[in-house]
Amino acid sequence: MTSFYLSKPYEPPQAPQNLPLDLPWALLGGISPNQFMKTYWHKKPLMIRGAIPAFHLAKQSNTSLESPIPPEALFKIASEADLESRLIEAKPWRFSEGPLKKKDIPQITKPDWTLLLQGMEAKHPAAAAVLSWFRFIPDARLDDLMVSIAGLGGGVGPHFDSYDVFLIQMSGRRRWAISQQKDLSLTPSLPLKILQRFKAEQVWELEPGDMLYLPPHVAHDGIALDSGCQTWSVGFRSQSYKELLQEGLWRLAESLEEIPDLNARFADPKQTATHSAEQLPQEMIAQLAKQLTRLKLDQISTFLPGVTAYLSEPKSQAIFDGPEKIQTTEEFGRSLLKNQLTLHPQTRLLALGKTVYCNGEDVTTGQTIPTKRAWRTLASKKYLKNAKIGKIDEQNSLYTSYQGGWLISKPSQRSL
Ligand code: SIN
Ligand code: CO
Repeated sequence: MTSFYLSKPYEPPQAPQNLPLDLPWALLGGISPNQFMKTYWHKKPLMIRGAIPAFHLAKQSNTSLESPIPPEALFKIASEADLESRLIEAKPWRFSEGPLKKKDIPQITKPDWTLLLQGMEAKHPAAAAVLSWFRFIPDARLDDLMVSIAGLGGGVGPHFDSYDVFLIQMSGRRRWAISQQKDLSLTPSLPLKILQRFKAEQVWELEPGDMLYLPPHVAHDGIALDSGCQTWSVGFRSQSYKELLQEGLWRLAESLEEIPDLNARFADPKQTATHSAEQLPQEMIAQLAKQLTRLKLDQISTFLPGVTAYLSEPKSQAIFDGPEKIQTTEEFGRSLLKNQLTLHPQTRLLALGKTVYCNGEDVTTGQTIPTKRAWRTLASKKYLKNAKIGKIDEQNSLYTSYQGGWLISKPSQRSL
């Protein structure tokens, strides 16, 4: 087994800005992102040896690479409140939710436990770099990067997930067994969702640098073959149609607040005497139909801003601390000229055409043209360099987002 303390950690590179979508990628086992999406995504599993070639190359030259995040750092992160952590112990199954103190976590030499840390891209630049490799898939679908660290034999039991996941082996070995079985019934009275009858169909031992892609509902069971085994899962999300529609409609309903003429009251001077007083009046139906058409409430384009805003909401645990010393608008404008503006690691940005949503809010409507342009660059590249925004006032959304800690101004580095 590799030693944690003697080998040097692997530093994942940041993905290039323009991903070559039709060239073969080692990460995808020598196929292109286009081919991957067509053949495997959301359809069938794919096991990739040497998805991160650095581990294999190190082995060939008799050196070993370790995970960029050592176990001690992971244990410390487990005690932090702004991230979701879980400890799962097997034999018998036990489940505890974080934050977890060091003394709550079994020693690395002890068997049969797994510590899961969600949203690690916000905690470590290496996790953020790994996530950047997967931007050939829309940001709206991306959930987060989860790191698991386990004692020998540790695992979360045979189960299935409702989401697509890339399981990247980063330290030690893990044996993955998978099954496309139809029977997904769960064992009753357990604190975890564990399949009652798991029948492995394929089994692989993953070494550092190997990766397993699983679409939703493929049953899987991963058992750590080495103590300190680390698996990094790039997880996706897909909300139910109910959630997408409800969240979009709520926001659409709220947006009606901004239309003052809707405060005018319903008027029916044309109402005639009626024999069916219990019926909703035709006059009211006709007028409401007219309003729906006038306000385009019957069109998808009116509904999508609410959905995009919703999908750009940060994780509920996210905490944004503003800068210690806030720059004035003039200082901020000057610093944009020479500094880099980056996203707080918990910030989510999504675009709908030319409109950009940051952490649930439309940040482009009503802003100046250079500000809008800056947000579009931030949404696509995740950073902004040497930006000429012109005069910045207190209402400028770049400035308010910087004040709120959503954006971070820092000295320019070499290009990412
Ligand atoms: C793990 O990393 O230990 C579990 C990940 C999973 O099965 O989804
Ligand atoms: Co799983």
